[in-house]
Amino acid sequence: MGEQPTITQAFSSGPEGISGASQLLRAGEIVAFPTETVYGLGGDATNGEAVAKIFDVKGRPSFNPLIVHVASVDKAEALIELPPKGRTLAQMLWPGPLTLVGRLRPGKGLADLVRAGLPTLAVRVPDHPVAQALLRAVGRPLAAPSANPSGKVSPTTAQHVHDLMSGRIAGVLDGGAAAVGLESTIIGFENLEPVLLRPGGVTVEEIAKLVDTAPNPPSSAVVNAPGQLQSHYAPVAEVEMNATEDPVLGFGAIEGQVSLSPDGDLTEAAANLFGMLRLMDEALKDGDVLTVAPIPEEGLGRAINDRLRRAAAPRQTSTK
Ligand code: TXA
Ligand code: MG
Repeated sequence: MGEQPTITQAFSSGPEGISGASQLLRAGEIVAFPTETVYGLGGDATNGEAVAKIFDVKGRPSFNPLIVHVASVDKAEALIELPPKGRTLAQMLWPGPLTLVGRLRPGKGLADLVRAGLPTLAVRVPDHPVAQALLRAVGRPLAAPSANPSGKVSPTTAQHVHDLMSGRIAGVLDGGAAAVGLESTIIGFENLEPVLLRPGGVTVEEIAKLVDTAPNPPSSAVVNAPGQLQSHYAPVAEVEMNATEDPVLGFGAIEGQVSLSPDGDLTEAAANLFGMLRLMDEALKDGDVLTVAPIPEEGLGRAINDRLRRAAAPRQTSTK
C-alpha cells in the first residue's frame, strides 16, 4: 500500500507543464509522460524509492527490469557499452522506438532496482518532443515501463492513463496520442550480434538492413520470460526467508545486521533489496546462510518475497 498521492495532476505539454512534471519527478514522484510508442510511467532512475514506487503503482507481482530513457545517443552510450552493431543501430535509429540492452558502465548512480539485479541495462532515446523536453528539464535518466497496471494494455493517450492510474500517481503529462502505439523493439547482444528480445516499433527488416543480419531470437529464453529473469541473480550464499532471530537482513521491528527498512516501509525495502543482497552476499562466506526477516505479503512485499523466494530456491547449475 504505502502513502500514495490521491490527486493526479494533469500537465499540458507547454513549458509550465514540463516544469511542473519535472519538479515532481526530481522530488521522487511518479509522473506518466508521452513517448512515440506508448505512455510511460516515469520515475527518477537514480532514486531507488522512486523506482520502487513504479513497481508499486504498476502492481507487478515481481520486479521486471525497466527501460531507462535518456535524451540523446551520447547520454545513452555513456550509460551502457554497445558492440559495433549496437552503436550503428543507436546512431541510425535513435531517437526512436528502439531499446538497446547493454552492459551498464560502472559508477552511473542508477538505482539497482532498475535492472532488477541484472548486469545489463535497457536504454531508449524516445522520439517525442514532449519526452525530449521533459528529459532535458529533469536532467536525470527516467525509468519508465508502459503506464498501465500489470495485465492491462499499454495506454496511448493521456486520458487513457488518467483512466488507468488516477489517484495512484502524482501526474500525467499530456503529449497527445502516441504515434506508434506499440512498444519499442528491444535488442540485446550475444557474441556482439544483435538478438531480438521483443518485437516492437522498429521492424527486424529495418534492423537487418542496417547491420546486415536479421536479429535472431536469443539463445536462451531467460531475458524474455520475466519469471526467469531472476535466475540471473543467484547469490553465492544460501538464502533463508522468514528468519526472526537476528537475521542478516532485517525489516521493521526485526533489526538484523543491516535493515531493508527499519520503519517497515516496503517502498524503502524494495529500493534497498538488490543493493543489500549483493552487499551481504559479498560479505558472507561460502556455506553461510543469508537470512532475511519476514516481509509482509502485501503491496511491494509480494514482489520482494517473489525475488527472495527465487534467490532461496536451490541452485540448478553454476552461479553466474
Ligand atoms: O516503448 C516502450 O518500450 C515503453 C515506453 C514507455 O518506452 N516501455 C515499455 O516498458 O514497454 P516495459 O517495462 O513495459 O517493458 C520493458 C521490457 C520488459 O519486458 C523487460 O523484460 C525488458 O524490457 N528489459 C528491461 N531491461 C532488460 C534487460 N536488462 N535485459 C533484458 N530485457 C530487459
Ligand atoms: Mg508493458
